[in-house]
Amino acid sequence: MTASIGIIGVGHLAGYLVEGLRRAGDGPVIVLSPRNAGKSRVLAERFDARVAADNAHVVEEADTVILATRPAQAVQAAAGLPWRAGQVLICVAAGIPLDALAPVAGPATVVRAMPISCAAIGESPTSLYPDGPEARALFERLGPVHALPDETSFEAASVLGAFYGWVYAMLAEVTAWTEGHGVPSRTARDLVAETARGATGMILDRPGESLAAMLETLRTPGGITNRGLEVLEEKEAVTAWGAACRAALERTRQNAAKEPNRAQRNQEREL
Ligand SMILES: NC(=O)c1ccc[n+]([C@@H]2O[C@H](COP(=O)([O-])OP(=O)(O)OC[C@H]3O[C@@H](n4cnc5c(N)ncnc54)[C@H](OP(=O)(O)O)[C@@H]3O)[C@@H](O)[C@H]2O)c1
Repeated sequence: MTASIGIIGVGHLAGYLVEGLRRAGDGPVIVLSPRNAGKSRVLAERFDARVAADNAHVVEEADTVILATRPAQAVQAAAGLPWRAGQVLICVAAGIPLDALAPVAGPATVVRAMPISCAAIGESPTSLYPDGPEARALFERLGPVHALPDETSFEAASVLGAFYGWVYAMLAEVTAWTEGHGVPSRTARDLVAETARGATGMILDRPGESLAAMLETLRTPGGITNRGLEVLEEKEAVTAWGAACRAALERTRQNAAKEPNRAQRNQEREL
């Protein structure tokens, strides 16, 4: 495990990561960027972290640096900092390709990762590309890690970071319906969340069974699961999830296209 972790971009995700790292027990020194000083200070006090004087100090003080700004800010935030050989920069900003970051972060090694907010409770699956011991050890403190074989498949896997948000939307709808039919609020919320966890628990417990086959055992003809699925299918609500994945991947590619890659930078320099 890396001895010190820096975070540039202390927003929502950074808060979840810091919480998870501390919950995992004795951990690394954590150094935070000072922009949004109030948030950094509160996090530092709550989770025994330090706020650096500026981003350059984050890079100087940390072995591994997580870049957690919004995508449009990422390359600019990383540029001009004192990166050194042997250091690892982990970019969690969706859609920022390695080719856009490597020229500004060299000679540090650049890795892309997609953790999600349940890192705070040690339950975040994290997609990683490329695999590397420092990034793997860091994210394994926050949940299961999946290294992808190439950047294209990493970007497809990153869409699941968005899917995670859509799941909240679906659960919120069903919770509201349940509450609206007289189930006490807390019971409705717990029941819906536990039901979703039950489904995912079964899927993870039985890797040899296809999801289609598992669904088939639940879909009793004439039963209530079947009736609800008929409505969802009539409304194209099931296939709409695939459409949402395609739209999210498209947005990822748009973000990537906004960042010049190494070849474009070299070309600009030559002009
Ligand atoms: N939220 C999630 O759960 C989640 C999950 C997976 C991946 N991500 C990725 O993580 C990134 C951050 O998401 P978020 O929701 O945490 O966004 P956020 O709450 O907006 O946090 C980003 C932070 O970075 C700061 N920042 C911008 N430029 C900076 C710079 N040069 N130096 C230091 N700090 C700088 C921003 O400050 P200002 O507000 O002042 O600009 C803001 O506080 C995004 O790229 C997103 O794709 C997020």
